[in-house]
Amino acid sequence: MFRSGYRLDQSKTPFLDGLKQYSLDGIIPFHTPGHKQGRSLDKELRQALGELPFRLDVSDEISSPVHDNNSEAVLREAEALAADAFGADRTFFLHNGTTAGIQAMLLAVRQLAGHRLFRSRFSQEDVGEVILPRSVHRSVFGGLVLAGLTPRFVQETWDEEWNIPLPASISAWQTAAEAANQPVAFLETYPSYYGIAGNLGKVAQLAAEWSRPLLVDEAHGAHFGFHPGLPPTALSLGAAASAQSAHKVLGVLTQASLLHTSRQELSELMPAILGILQSTSPSFLLYASLDAGRRQMAVEGRRLWQQALELSQAARERINQIPGLQCLDREILTKPEIACWDPTRLLIRVDLLGLSGSQAEKWLRQEGIQVELAGLNHILVLVTIGDGPSEVGRLVEALGKLAQVHAGPVQYSPVRLPKPRVSGKIKLSPRRAMLSHWHAKELTRAIGEIAASSLTPYPPGIPALVPGEQITAESIEYLEECWQRGIEIRGWADVESKTIWVVDAD
Ligand SMILES: Cc1ncc(COP(=O)(O)O)c(C=O)c1O
Repeated sequence: MFRSGYRLDQSKTPFLDGLKQYSLDGIIPFHTPGHKQGRSLDKELRQALGELPFRLDVSDEISSPVHDNNSEAVLREAEALAADAFGADRTFFLHNGTTAGIQAMLLAVRQLAGHRLFRSRFSQEDVGEVILPRSVHRSVFGGLVLAGLTPRFVQETWDEEWNIPLPASISAWQTAAEAANQPVAFLETYPSYYGIAGNLGKVAQLAAEWSRPLLVDEAHGAHFGFHPGLPPTALSLGAAASAQSAHKVLGVLTQASLLHTSRQELSELMPAILGILQSTSPSFLLYASLDAGRRQMAVEGRRLWQQALELSQAARERINQIPGLQCLDREILTKPEIACWDPTRLLIRVDLLGLSGSQAEKWLRQEGIQVELAGLNHILVLVTIGDGPSEVGRLVEALGKLAQVHAGPVQYSPVRLPKPRVSGKIKLSPRRAMLSHWHAKELTRAIGEIAASSLTPYPPGIPALVPGEQITAESIEYLEECWQRGIEIRGWADVESKTIWVVDAD
C-alpha cells in the first residue's frame, strides 16, 4: 500500500550527517582504511576520482554528539528511520546487496524451523523445503546451500510473445505446497526483472493458511512504497520479510540494499545472521547513501516518481508509434497470471525489425545508449528518478533511428528459446550436493548423474539444472538445443569440453 504519514522525522539523515561531520572535524586518522582519507592514493586514481570519496570512506568512527560518537547507535537510528519509511518492523542496511538479504532470510527461516526439522540435534540430514518458482535469482540457490534447505518448485508459464517468464498461478502454488515435504517457507520474486508481478497477496494468504512465512525477493521494487501509481509493497501484501536492491532503482551506491522484516522473531535473529554473511568492515559510503536515499524517498518520492512515471509513459507511447517496435503496455494486465506491473520499466520488442535483443543493444551502444538487459527478442530499459526529458528523448530518438536503419524486408530471424525441459528430480539438497565430492563429466554422457552446480541458459536466466537435481535425457536435450541456437550457457565446469560438475557416486 502507498504510505504517506510517517511516525519519525523523515527529514533527518543521522548517518550522512555523522560521516560528513567526521570529515569536517579534521581528525587525524590513525585507523583503517589504509588510504587515510585519501592521503595515500595512486596519482591516476586521485585524478580519476578526486579525494572526496576517500575523505568520507572511514570505518567505525563517526561524529555524533547525540550518540557519543558511537557509529553502531547512529546506524540503528538510520535503520529505524528506514523501517518507518518502508513500513517494516525492522530494516537492516545491507552492504552485500540483496544477495545477503536473501541468504539471511533463508537462514532465518531454517533457524526458526530447526527444532521442528531435526529429530536429533546431531542429524546429518537436510530436511525442509522452500516453495518457490524456478526463475528465482541465483542468490536464492546460494541461500538454500547455506541454510540446508531444498527447493520445491512451483510451475511457471512462459510468455512466447515477449520471451519472459510469467508469474505462477495460485493453483500452481497450492499444488507445490501440497506436494512439499516439511515446507518451511514460501519465496516469491516480486516483481520480476521486467517489472511484472503475480498476485502476491494471494500467495501470502496461502502461506498464512500453511502457517509458513512468505519471503520476498523485492530486488527490483525498492521504490514501490513511494507512489500510488507503482505496485503495492511486498510487506503491505503480507510478506514476513523482503529484500530490496535499493541500488537498482534509487539514488544510492551499488551493493547498498535493504532487508525489511515484519515479524519480531525474524527481526530478532537478523543481526546475528547478517554478522555471519557480511563483511565486518561495511562501507560507510554505502550506508550514508542508503540514509540519504531513504530521506529522498520519504520527503520527495511521490513527486520524483510522478515525473518518472510520466516520462516513461510518454516514451512508451512514442515508441509504440515507431514502425517495427513494440513496448509492453497496460494490456499485459489482462493476462490472468499478472496482477500488477511497474510502468517505469520499458520492455521493447525488436524482433519485428529482424533483430535480436543483443543486436539492438550493440547498435544502441554505438549511439551512446546502454540498456539494462537484452533478451532474445527484446531489450529492457529502466527509467528512474535519475532520468529527465533529454535522456528519455535521446533514447526515443535512437530507437527511431534503429527502426529506420533496419526497416525493410526482415533479413534475420531471431533465435527462439527452445521449450524449457527440466528434470525436476531433486535427489539431494543443494547443500549436500555442494559439499559432496564432485567430478567433471561431459554433459551428453551424464544421464542419471546428480548435478553439483547450476547450469543456466542466458537468456532466460532460469537454471536448466540446479545443485542436487538429477540429470535426465530431457534436460540434456534442452541444453543442447540452447547451445545449438547460440544461447549462452553459464555454469560449465569447462565450456570447451562442455563438462558439468556432477556429484561422485557413493
Ligand atoms: C531478482 C533479483 N534478485 C536478487 C538479485 C541480487 O541483488 P544484488 O545485486 O543487490 O545482490 C538480483 C540482481 O540482479 C535480481 O535481479
